[in-house]
Amino acid sequence: MKTILVTGGAGYIGSHTCVELLNENYNVIVVDNLCNSCEESLKRVERITGKNIKFYKIDCCKKRLLEKVFVENKIDAIIHFAGLKAVGESVKMPLEYYQNNLISTLNIIDLMRKHDVKSLVFSSSATVYGDPKSVPIYEDFDLKVTNPYGRTKLMLEDVLRDFANVNKDFNIALLRYFNPIGAHPSGLIGEDPNGIPNNLMPYITQVAIGKREFLGIFGNDYNTPDGTGVRDYVHVCDLARGHVLALKKLFTNSGLVTYNLGTGKGSSVLDVLKGMEKACGFEIKYKILERRPGDIAQCYASCDKAYKELGFKAQYSLEDMCRDSWNWQKNNPNGYKTKNKILVK
Ligand code: NAD
Ligand code: WQD
Repeated sequence: MKTILVTGGAGYIGSHTCVELLNENYNVIVVDNLCNSCEESLKRVERITGKNIKFYKIDCCKKRLLEKVFVENKIDAIIHFAGLKAVGESVKMPLEYYQNNLISTLNIIDLMRKHDVKSLVFSSSATVYGDPKSVPIYEDFDLKVTNPYGRTKLMLEDVLRDFANVNKDFNIALLRYFNPIGAHPSGLIGEDPNGIPNNLMPYITQVAIGKREFLGIFGNDYNTPDGTGVRDYVHVCDLARGHVLALKKLFTNSGLVTYNLGTGKGSSVLDVLKGMEKACGFEIKYKILERRPGDIAQCYASCDKAYKELGFKAQYSLEDMCRDSWNWQKNNPNGYKTKNKILVK
């Protein structure tokens, strides 16, 4: 049985990936400092799968502490989700973003080298494409970032490419996620943002549950079919499966590989809103606001490469994503802090 170290495993995408890994009979070790998550998500993962996770509450920036995990366990591969991810916050606190995202990843790479761990899946982002010249976006498009968060991802991609160039026995997957939404169909785990959500789906579900008054739609004058922004929303469980497929690829000694993970389809803000109204069965209030600075009109992936080389194809529709996001939100109105809920598996 192979052992996978999942950094940031208590977070949104990490927790769903832990479910997928445990269901595929991998041993899972999680390292997370819980700066944007809580241990309850891991307890829920254990409940969903009936399997155990070994958890270390450690900051990946603290190399000496992190090394303990490598000394105590024989690790076959690492999926490195740990990082700060809010674009707006990164503009206000660039140094924190560079420190956290860069140092944690440099520590991981160095410890991999020292302890002979040869496979790494790295969480990159569609943000590395900036405003693409056309859609769909292919992996060989120019890379151009517009904010410190995106810059950390691009810098780390460069670091990993340089490292892989001279360390041919290391296998590294750069996975560029598009817009993950949805939740595990059990309703036990999902996205649990702190404070006011930055992203569309958690904002909509919080309006639907009555926590926020209305959705502000950031512009309806884009050059898109209905004027609102178009994105490639991908179910987090599809994304999680993509990680397991990428791991399998790495175990064939692939060297460095890069894949878009999305659905290949664009949906507008109004499409998502309508999808959520259908899932909840009532109307959701919205207002058209000014464009959000830094937003682009449209962004969706070509997932041909991931399909050809990994066999990855998203299986969940936008309707499924809305159903599962709503199921999570209504069962957990206060996220993981919700008390005494009896949930159906
Ligand atoms: P998340 O915030 O839910 O999960 C990240 C986890 O990392 C959290 O549990 C947090 O506590 C932990 N963490 C952060 N810094 C750490 C550190 N120094 N040491 C240990 N743990 C640390 O975010 P997510 O949505 O699950 O994203 C996971 C990864 O995917 C991130 O790297 C993010 O940049 C990337 N990504 C996310 C999206 C998205 O829209 N959610 C899109 C593209 C890429
Ligand atoms: C989606 C659409 C908004 C909120 C971000 C990061 C990206 C990646 C994924 C990490 C846009 C509109 C949103 C709202 C709205 N993360 N919107 N009202 O900006 O595509 O991508 O998350 O790597 O790097 O930039 O996602 O969910 O914020 O926005 O109208 O309250 O919804 O304008 O068209 P985005 P998002």
